[in-house]
Amino acid sequence: MATESEKQPEMAGEVGADRRDFLWKVGCAALSIAGVEAAASTLRFAKAPVSYGPAQRRSLGDLTRFPPGAPVYVEDAGVFVLRDAKGLRALSATCTHLGCTVRTDRETGGFVCPCHGSRYDKEGKVVAGPAPASLPFVRVDQDRRGRLVVDLGTPVDADFRTKVG
Ligand code: FES
Repeated sequence: MATESEKQPEMAGEVGADRRDFLWKVGCAALSIAGVEAAASTLRFAKAPVSYGPAQRRSLGDLTRFPPGAPVYVEDAGVFVLRDAKGLRALSATCTHLGCTVRTDRETGGFVCPCHGSRYDKEGKVVAGPAPASLPFVRVDQDRRGRLVVDLGTPVDADFRTKVG
């Protein structure tokens, strides 16, 4: 029969083995959880919805909305449509200072920003700050049904006009 002093080393070995076994299991569990989380993150990344920001094309409606002469503001698109004998253009109504919507200025025929007073001429060129740049013209096209569509993401030269019948 073993004495107490003879049993202790054996018990110490069992305690050490239990501890190693416990730590091994905890380590395996932690690695498994990390692996599952990494796989889930990869799947989330792979299936992430792609967004390119708000749509840039907006309908302006029918040509009859835009008689030659004064600019016509289209709120849904945030543009002024200008029509003359050469065709049709769309001028962004977004002030180049901090993005307020400009209004027509009856006195000058240009545009004025209500936020900080920037002024633009009839062609959208800055005549008084703090706006740092002119209002850009953006592309207008006619779709297959003859309806006008503006592409807010495509700036064009001030000379560019969409020919309309
Ligand atoms: S946002 Fe137009 S002048 Fe500041």
